[in-house]
Amino acid sequence: MIVFEQVSKRHGDGKEALAAVTLEIGAGEFTVLSGPSGAGKSSLIRLIPALDRPTTGRVCVGGEDTSRLKRRDLPYWRRRMGLILQEPSLLPDRSVLDHVLMPLDIAGFGRKEADRRARAALDQVGLLDRERALPPALSGGEQQRLLIARALVHRPALLLADEPTAHLDAGQAADIAALFADFHRLGVTILLATHDVDIFSPYQTRQIALQQGRVLP
Ligand SMILES: Nc1ncnc2c1ncn2[C@@H]1O[C@H](COP(=O)(O)OP(=O)(O)O)[C@@H](O)[C@H]1O
Ligand SMILES: [Mg+2]
Repeated sequence: MIVFEQVSKRHGDGKEALAAVTLEIGAGEFTVLSGPSGAGKSSLIRLIPALDRPTTGRVCVGGEDTSRLKRRDLPYWRRRMGLILQEPSLLPDRSVLDHVLMPLDIAGFGRKEADRRARAALDQVGLLDRERALPPALSGGEQQRLLIARALVHRPALLLADEPTAHLDAGQAADIAALFADFHRLGVTILLATHDVDIFSPYQTRQIALQQGRVLP
């Protein structure tokens, strides 16, 4: 599903964030990308939805070479995946339900079907009773649940998540890890970056470790 061939990435004129990364992630895998801060985890994740382009090498997703995608096709193409990135992306004045409706509106669902799907997604992450709340009123764990619901409401086959348990206490982080495992069981391919691999140790995951931009053997 995801293939990296000899990928390097240099941001601006900085040092190489990724160097000769070659890897393959198959459909149905639950992969944990680990490594210390600065190892290149975010750089790697961001290449998959083509938020960044590789400096050299090739990134293919679902058989498509991301370097061949036209700019105008990118928003449509990104809908194949659910994204949870590190940058804050919740709108303080839009309700929990609104956040989950947005991807469905963009995908062209009618009001009734969108409502039904949005509530089903909130139910799956245990947020149905918070649908009218605004993000600032949510706990860190609830905010992360909302991000997961929003990423998965249009039922993509692939979920990418960058440090989804950062800033959570141990109990909340464990709950979020369990939620990822639930979605994996439902058939979602998951690639997540974390510096805290222990949180995912109760689950059968594939581990890929990065260090200074290289995949450790
Ligand atoms: N937008 C950017 N501009 C310049 N350097 C960057 C940028 N993003 C990341 N880097 C650098 O690339 C390296 C890898 O960073 P990153 O991929 O964010 O690692 P991680 O997510 O594992 O902490 C670091 O040295 C970082 O400083
Ligand atoms: Mg990062």
